[in-house]
Amino acid sequence: MESLEKSDGLQDFRIVTVFLSGVVQLKDLSGKRVLITGGANGIGKSMVEAFDATGAMVSFCDINSSQGNALEEATKCAKFTLLDLRVEDQVRQWIDQSAEIDGRIDVLINNAASDPRIEFESMTVEQWDDLFARNIRAYFIAAQQASPRFPARGGAMINFSSITVHKSPAKMEAYVSTKAATIGLTQSLARELGPRNIRVNTLSPGWVMTDRQLEEFVTPEVKQMLRREQCIAELILPGEIAKVALFLASDMSSAITGQEFLVDRGWACSG
Ligand SMILES: NC(=O)c1ccc[n+]([C@@H]2O[C@H](COP(=O)([O-])OP(=O)(O)OC[C@H]3O[C@@H](n4cnc5c(N)ncnc54)[C@H](O)[C@@H]3O)[C@@H](O)[C@H]2O)c1
Repeated sequence: MESLEKSDGLQDFRIVTVFLSGVVQLKDLSGKRVLITGGANGIGKSMVEAFDATGAMVSFCDINSSQGNALEEATKCAKFTLLDLRVEDQVRQWIDQSAEIDGRIDVLINNAASDPRIEFESMTVEQWDDLFARNIRAYFIAAQQASPRFPARGGAMINFSSITVHKSPAKMEAYVSTKAATIGLTQSLARELGPRNIRVNTLSPGWVMTDRQLEEFVTPEVKQMLRREQCIAELILPGEIAKVALFLASDMSSAITGQEFLVDRGWACSG
């Protein structure tokens, strides 16, 4: 019950889970094997907690061992693997090992990404390649390795893009390119994997108040700007993104594939 007191946007979901366990909407995720990349921090961490609370069997990976191990300890049964998503063999091995546990994968969430601000004129090819390796190449490798391991009844993949594809910020050319590519990957994969009942969707968060965003980028001026430009002023919490991931992973969204979900409190509406 301690989790009910946390202010991370997941309260109402947990109440449903605690007081109405077995409720139709979330029951289908119980026992499902859910893989989450970059699960040790931020939105990924909220998703690990949310899926774990539904009774899903979560496997998550991250490059940050201390945060990953601490989160594994704090969950019911989520399993952490230390790896670098830029290394192909490590990604394929993690997918295979996770699939071996119950002989299948039901949900894959490609979440990990890096979003540095880099001056365009001084950006190096190495920096460009590094972002492509983390933010989109790893999504392809994970999806390719996971897709044959989905059961005949199918499942769901969720690829993380970003509000930045719609707002076009400067100093983020490589990041925004990877996030636009994610939308293309989702659409093509939805067509490719549809015949096998695997739904593939893009989740694009607005500006979310994760620990790292608050430490590195969210100034009082940014908060003021968001409150002015979002349709609803309240700042977005990581748990609110996790709730949309639960929806896209569950049978509640059984008719939805190939789509982008912009979870931005209407920021993109302001043009
Ligand atoms: N937070 C936001 O405001 C925001 C806005 C739009 C889109 N997004 C997207 O949402 C997703 C999650 O973002 P976040 O803000 O929670 O990020 P975050 O930086 O808080 O967490 C990302 C996690 O990925 C891990 N990671 C990074 N590189 C890795 C690698 N090579 N191998 C393994 N793990 C690696 C990090 O260690 C970290 O735990 C990303 O795809 C991001 O682009 C976030």
